[in-house]
Amino acid sequence: MEMVVGKSSQIQGELYLPGDKSISHRSVIFNSISNGTAKITNISLGQDCISTINIMRNMGVEIDLNEQDTTTLIIKGVGRTGLREPNIVLDAGNSGTTMRLISGLLSAQPFFSVLTGDDSLRSRPMGRIILPLKQMGANILGRDGNTKAPFAIYGSELEGIEYTMPVASAQLKSCLILAAINSVGKTILHQPALSRDHTEKMLGNMGVNIQNDGLKLTIEPFTGEFKSIDVNVPADISSAAFWIVAGLCHQQGKITLKNVGINPSRSGILDVMSEMGGNIYVKNATIVAGEEVADIVVEPSELQGIEISGDIIPRLIDEIPIIALAACFAKGKTVIRDASDARNKESDRLSITVSELSKFGADIEETVDGIIINGVGSLSGTICESFNDHRIAMMEAIAAILSQGKTTIKNSECVAISYPQFWDDLSNLTGDHYDA
Ligand code: S3P
Repeated sequence: MEMVVGKSSQIQGELYLPGDKSISHRSVIFNSISNGTAKITNISLGQDCISTINIMRNMGVEIDLNEQDTTTLIIKGVGRTGLREPNIVLDAGNSGTTMRLISGLLSAQPFFSVLTGDDSLRSRPMGRIILPLKQMGANILGRDGNTKAPFAIYGSELEGIEYTMPVASAQLKSCLILAAINSVGKTILHQPALSRDHTEKMLGNMGVNIQNDGLKLTIEPFTGEFKSIDVNVPADISSAAFWIVAGLCHQQGKITLKNVGINPSRSGILDVMSEMGGNIYVKNATIVAGEEVADIVVEPSELQGIEISGDIIPRLIDEIPIIALAACFAKGKTVIRDASDARNKESDRLSITVSELSKFGADIEETVDGIIINGVGSLSGTICESFNDHRIAMMEAIAAILSQGKTTIKNSECVAISYPQFWDDLSNLTGDHYDA
């Protein structure tokens, strides 16, 4: 589907965004193996979370959508030994979180399973989970020398390990935590930098003992029953990021984003935009189910280029394409470094951000581990490709409303991976109508 988007005369209003994707996946997976019934409100029903829901259903978990309110899920946990062997191949679709977390869980289940995904997911690195899972004793066999999906898992008894993670990845960390709680002996994980910590927080609330000592995590085997918990999922800061940049860069921007998750392990975009000189205000901060939540208000700003590198990168890893767009409207140079893992996402986000923003007239260059952008102040509409990467398509839509003339975005339907109502929200904020 091609979407044609013109420069907008304004972008203003208030939005309640879909629930955080990372928290939604974890709410479904962890409550599925709990004892009791959990109610999840404001769940993300993007295609990625639907993949997780379907996989848990294929292992015998009853998960119902509330008919009155289609963002409320009821999960009847089957308990830690209640999952049953799936009689079909489990399909994680486009979702790395689904594949990596569920592999950790399945490695210790007493049955056989096969996991696959779409073209993009089957090309993403899975050696990072298969290697340590094998060290724990998992029977897991993957394509391409145990580095890619599909893979097959014969569940087995696992043993805790001490492991230094080569990447600051929450998917890898969560995969190993799920394996570790079902192992004999404790597991110690050393992280190169802090990545999102929703797993530690949610499993902690369910009764699991995870000691957190800076970059070192110690996970004790968990022999009890998981306590199911109701979760009111905060709005996704990774979806909010598109509106944050739109509101800061558009001369007629003023956007309020309600109930956004601002967990410090995710909020790098707020720090970066403030450091660039953005008029960004965090209001009504509170804590819901252990997660920080606040309203975010953005207004037109004179941005300045900055350097973005080091430990902040995992805190904004999904926001690199939209930060690069903001840098096009900043004065001076922005340098993004230490971000080579952005190449391993739904697409190679360093290379594609550079190729696509160049089409809009950006002064932008790819480096081995990042991007260098010289602010140009204005962009021109073009014909661009999403490469079926939802975050690239949404970045291009924001580039389009800020650019002179019209832009055609090819394969624009992929926004539904994380944000099915993205085009409607864009229309509501700009007052323009978009044609597919
Ligand atoms: C996620 C972790 C990040 C992120 C992804 C969601 C998660 O991936 O890019 O969109 O829910 O744990 P990595 O852990 O591989 O960095």
